[in-house]
Amino acid sequence: MDYLKIQGIKSLSGTIKISGAKNASLPLIAMTILAKNSVSIKNLPNVADIKTLLKLLTNLGANCEFQKIKTIVDTTQLTETKATYDIVKTMRASILVLGPLLTRFGHCEVSLPGGCAIGQRPIDLHLKALEQMGATIDIKSGYVQASAPNGLKGCEIIFDKITVTGTANIVMAAALAKGVTTIINAAREPEVVQLCEVLHASGVKIEGIGTAVLAIHGTHGKLIHIDEFSIIPDRIEAGTYLCAGAITKSELKLTNVNAKHLGAVIAKLEEMGSSFTITKNTITIHPSQIIKPIKIVTQEYPAFPTDMQAQFLALATQANGVSIIEERLFENRFMHVSELQRLGANISLNGSVATVSGQSQLSGTDIMATDLRASSALVLAALVADGETKIHRIYHLDRGYDQLEKKLEGVGAKIERLKE
Ligand code: UD1
Repeated sequence: MDYLKIQGIKSLSGTIKISGAKNASLPLIAMTILAKNSVSIKNLPNVADIKTLLKLLTNLGANCEFQKIKTIVDTTQLTETKATYDIVKTMRASILVLGPLLTRFGHCEVSLPGGCAIGQRPIDLHLKALEQMGATIDIKSGYVQASAPNGLKGCEIIFDKITVTGTANIVMAAALAKGVTTIINAAREPEVVQLCEVLHASGVKIEGIGTAVLAIHGTHGKLIHIDEFSIIPDRIEAGTYLCAGAITKSELKLTNVNAKHLGAVIAKLEEMGSSFTITKNTITIHPSQIIKPIKIVTQEYPAFPTDMQAQFLALATQANGVSIIEERLFENRFMHVSELQRLGANISLNGSVATVSGQSQLSGTDIMATDLRASSALVLAALVADGETKIHRIYHLDRGYDQLEKKLEGVGAKIERLKE
């Protein structure tokens, strides 16, 4: 197993190129199941979750070819329709193949993903919506067994809660369904928007893209032709590096980034004292020498993302006052708190609310990554801790950050990947 060794330093400087968004790539890779051609995808990030999903598709009979700047995914010869536990257990987002497999083949089996470190994360809303579209769903031996021998039918679906992968799954299922599917209370995340835009450009008419009400006009079973597309920049990776600039009080420039997707994150960093220069595809952070405390409540897009909560918690340990951070989406997403406390952070937890009591001088020690975004919060804290910090179990980090240590090294961080 690898670990990261980080030497706390005073400042960073330079430019970081942002990779393609993991959370946009996952549904868009699953979407290739709907294609009648081999699909060329540019700007896929080089992270473990993407490899996992491509492996899952390969197991189903797809052919994936990695070229220098693009990946070609050919699902035209797909034969298998069972996504097995050994892969799904490593990545919950594997559930994204459920909608596309069912709508294309009329049947499929996908292992139940189970809970994960940050909470229970049920998929009941995905299943209920597919049933409304005419599917029969059985849960047997840990698998979702879905069938719709005569195809799925468009209908009105009202999501009780906003769900990102749930919306993506139903949009893909609806793409080949008969008639129009209307999703009310749909997720509006940029990653969902890109999925809808690519499908729309491929001949699946979708109305309401970017709003909470989507109307998807299905092709009645006809596979679609998908032209080459490029994955949008990763807003969470970008947000994490903006926090790196803020916490180390360093000017950093991010390229290949879309500031429009980072509105809530930039607004909070501005409240904490930073200012920004923004162009069409760059963001430069001009940090303040004094970090102000903050109040944050995580919510669905366009509000403040839960995927940035851990990083802001790390940043708040360096603020000159009391910050309050409330997690509204996942019940157990504060495991980084005890690791930050090991570094000397002054944080108290009360249910879903973390209170960070002012600035504390962190000091390096051995700590453990517990989930993907928690891992990056630990990296941020280690950048300003006195002495050396070793972050273990960084396979969590590798799921979603493309070459994090190389990117940070490139702007002056003292960071090394080593073997246990
Ligand atoms: C996605 C993102 C993840 C992000 C999260 C919230 C991907 C691959 N992952 O996860 O990085 O943290 O959105 O922005 O894009 N829920 C149910 N029943 C369901 C589905 C969801 O109760 O059937 C609940 C969840 O437990 C959670 C909330 O709804 O409390 C939102 O979850 P959801 O948007 O589905 O998260 P993911 O799509 O899994």
